[in-house]
Amino acid sequence: MADCVIELRNLWTIFGTQVVHRDISLCVERGEILSLVGGSGSGKSTMLRQMLALERPSRGDVLVFGHSLINGDPLELRRLRNRWGVLFQEGALYSALSVFENVATPLRELKALDEGLIHDLVILKLEMVGIEAKHAEKMPSALSGGMIKRIGLARALALEPELLFLDEPTAGLDPDRSESFVTLIAEIRRELGLTVVMVTHDLDTLVSLSDRVAVLADQQIVAIGSVQDIAKATHQFIANFFQGERGKRALEAIKGMGIEAPASPIAAQQGT
Ligand SMILES: Nc1ncnc2c1ncn2[C@@H]1O[C@H](COP(=O)(O)OP(=O)(O)O)[C@@H](O)[C@H]1O
Ligand SMILES: [Mg+2]
Repeated sequence: MADCVIELRNLWTIFGTQVVHRDISLCVERGEILSLVGGSGSGKSTMLRQMLALERPSRGDVLVFGHSLINGDPLELRRLRNRWGVLFQEGALYSALSVFENVATPLRELKALDEGLIHDLVILKLEMVGIEAKHAEKMPSALSGGMIKRIGLARALALEPELLFLDEPTAGLDPDRSESFVTLIAEIRRELGLTVVMVTHDLDTLVSLSDRVAVLADQQIVAIGSVQDIAKATHQFIANFFQGERGKRALEAIKGMGIEAPASPIAAQQGT
């Protein structure tokens, strides 16, 4: 039986007369990076918020680490919140707080650590995401978009979570910064053995990081599997998603990872 870090059981989301999720079940397996993709309005953000206990589904259950977010008691929920970290798309940092204070905030909320330890932990987390200690006293407005994402990640990792949520982690970054942030996420995930749930529109990010992709469309998960598997699915959203130039390039890259050897001049010579 799969070891589900997150489990959605027969989840329905209904706003007025609009059905957003229709009887969705899903298991996010321990240690995987699962990406949620789907068109605008398909219910990705809502699903993420339900996994974070920020929103309740209309029907069904959401379990994280085996505990229900719907029926659990508030104390249990507080303990659960300390076991996951989130990098939100917007407002990645508190603009009125320095880099140091941003990363220190979740540690201070524990009310159990002294200043010396908080200092050491903050510097350690900043190092982990490639931010030198000399930047610690800077304000977010003085930083580049790439640095803000990294510091947001450091804050998400402050409490050493087992589970990490990423909402459009590379949105707004130029291609170089996006690529280096993807590399950082892959490294940290390996080092910490994290389970990751990510929402992304970016094909390169999707292909580089996902172990599995779940496609939200028509109020359901219409396809779930590796990027290779998903690319073969016939749903219209998927066809459109992989159609553009970037999609074609991403698919070429996937083919390159496959078992089929490319037809090289040497192979051609050997064949004759
Ligand atoms: N609190 C809400 N009240 C009413 N409708 C909502 C609410 N939250 C989301 N919706 C609607 O649910 C649908 C899914 O929204 P969302 O989860 O934000 O989609 P996505 O993130 O995939 O773009 C949209 O049609 C949105 O307008
Ligand atoms: Mg959204």
